[in-house]
Amino acid sequence: MHASDSPEILSSLDQGVQILHICRPEKKNALTRAMYRTLADALRRADTDPAVRVILMRGEPDCFTSGNDVNDFLEEEEHAAERPAVQFLKAIAHARKPLVAAVNGLAVGIGTTLLLHCDLVYAAEDAWLQLPFTRLGLCPEAASSVLVPQLMGHQRAAELLLLGERFSAGKAREYGLVNEVLPAAQVLPHALAKALALAALPSEAVQTSKHLLKRSQQAGIDDIMALELVNFTRLLRSPEARAIMQAFLQRKSG
Ligand code: COA
Repeated sequence: MHASDSPEILSSLDQGVQILHICRPEKKNALTRAMYRTLADALRRADTDPAVRVILMRGEPDCFTSGNDVNDFLEEEEHAAERPAVQFLKAIAHARKPLVAAVNGLAVGIGTTLLLHCDLVYAAEDAWLQLPFTRLGLCPEAASSVLVPQLMGHQRAAELLLLGERFSAGKAREYGLVNEVLPAAQVLPHALAKALALAALPSEAVQTSKHLLKRSQQAGIDDIMALELVNFTRLLRSPEARAIMQAFLQRKSG
């Protein structure tokens, strides 16, 4: 890791598998700008580092991530395209090395949409996921407006992205977002075993295969994310969204 990296992203390398561990348990692993920046840098560096053959993303035993830090949403100042979250999404969408995710606890917002850019996803049987954008007065991001309907069909996508209710890991598997659902304690060891299996294969063959698998989908991905971002930014500034987010942050003091 580099000196400027966030201490809330732990990184380690084990037999070709770089583990990126989101570790901010007191805030349910909510992602700050510094954490996105560190994740984006790690993904970009991994792409050119021959020692890294596979990336494994994990969170804490009770939370993968509760998504974007709501405080940062309210303080958004940067030019939209320069936001660290956007840089992270570009890095994960274009990652050359295979990405494996181990999901325990909860995965909210970008915690779920980032899974669309992973290659293998393992989740705990008691984990839940949520795409709560409309409930926050927002709209889909991370190319989820296209990738989710492509993956599961319009009606299922509308259920998840318009209603925005929590859904189980079992439903995520049924809808194609998750490869396997396992007892909570087995998720990380299982994901690591699969990551190590991928790392043991000829890396050029694996990376070429990933590129070919994603080629058709990736063609328009930057345009989709740019269109989503215009709308997301507009909605983020709306009084309705700001009131919903302020209410979340103040709920314990009221
Ligand atoms: N941004 C900022 N802070 C967050 C957060 C987020 N996304 N998610 C959780 N936190 C904070 C809480 O404010 C709380 O802080 P406090 O102890 O200083 O009050 C702490 O993390 C623990 O969260 P809490 O809500 O008490 O835990 P819970 O188990 O009752 O609920 C969640 C967990 C994830 C259901 C709930 O925190 C939540 O809905 N978070 C917001 C998710 C969200 O809207 N993300 C944006 C998606 S686009």
